[in-house]
Amino acid sequence: MTTTLQALQTDTPPFDAGEFRRALGTFPTGVAIITTRGPDGKPVGLTCNSFSSVSLDPPLVLWSLRNASKSMDAFQGANGFAINVLAEDQSKLSARFASGSIVDKFEGVGHSDGFGGVPLIDDCVARFHCTTFAQHAAGDHVIFIGKVERFEHGREQDPLVFYKGAYMMLAQSLRELAAQGRVSVKSLIEARAGVYELLLRLACERGEAIDFEAMEKHLADMDAQTERGDMAARALAALEYFSLITKAAHNDVLALVAQTLATLMHHSVMAQANAMPYAAMHQPELTPLRRQMLSCMRARDAEGAAAAVRAYFGHVEHFQRQAGTVS
Ligand SMILES: Cc1cc2nc3c(=O)[nH]c(=O)nc-3n(C[C@H](O)[C@H](O)[C@H](O)COP(=O)(O)O)c2cc1C
Repeated sequence: MTTTLQALQTDTPPFDAGEFRRALGTFPTGVAIITTRGPDGKPVGLTCNSFSSVSLDPPLVLWSLRNASKSMDAFQGANGFAINVLAEDQSKLSARFASGSIVDKFEGVGHSDGFGGVPLIDDCVARFHCTTFAQHAAGDHVIFIGKVERFEHGREQDPLVFYKGAYMMLAQSLRELAAQGRVSVKSLIEARAGVYELLLRLACERGEAIDFEAMEKHLADMDAQTERGDMAARALAALEYFSLITKAAHNDVLALVAQTLATLMHHSVMAQANAMPYAAMHQPELTPLRRQMLSCMRARDAEGAAAAVRAYFGHVEHFQRQAGTVS
């Protein structure tokens, strides 16, 4: 046994964090939203897959929170937390609570109070109300152990499962790269241009009347925002237009990729908004190109739609070069 271990140690290449993550990703997990209340009583929550059972008597569970989390103070200062296990149709909630850029993650999310006032999210498959039993520092995470005071087995629905880290790898590692400033605006524009060209081509084949009507309405709303001078809402609506294209492409895998890119883009727009007013970010030459994409989708003209989206991102890159964010 000792010999095998030694052999393993000498043969093992230097520790590769990416490989480590991929190896961990071979272990399928469920997904939960862990919630608590901050010192001001406001609900706080994040998406988590490190949840695990620990003990039956007393009933204990654990999960771990990365040290850099904005929610750390709230969890360390609270007497308890809730574990809300997500159902397979709640992946949007998972993405919402994994986002670092949404200010109020609970806005529009149905929830109520549980034991000790912990926030409970509606329609989950199970919920555990815990008091904090112990906290342990562990590398770049803190492990929280909870004593389960109450629990409910909720809807009879399959749980949301992440396997081989597909979602984690994309959403998490991209987010981390972005946080470290390692996602350049240029590579983000390139990725968006490529992914949306593909999505537009699919939307030309598979888009339905209802998808196109939603885009038509969205573009009208954007025009109204411009007239009102509500440029902050318009900047976000410009990103949302691409979510509608994604929907019209009817491909769940690409939708996940596009959603991740949209989250990164959202970060980037917010960061830019700190440096320049939203009005200065407005690029009027993009408006006809959005319309052109829509009319090409309606006419099932994939080449026309692809040309419009390439022109669109060509303008975006030009604009960013002038703004000095792309060299
Ligand atoms: C599927 C999935 C599982 C996650 N699991 C954890 C986890 O166990 N611990 C953790 O700290 N972050 C985890 N995250 C990342 C957090 O949800 C994310 O960093 C979130 O923005 C943290 O909230 P904060 O903005 O309040 O820091 C996970 C993300 C996803 C998508």
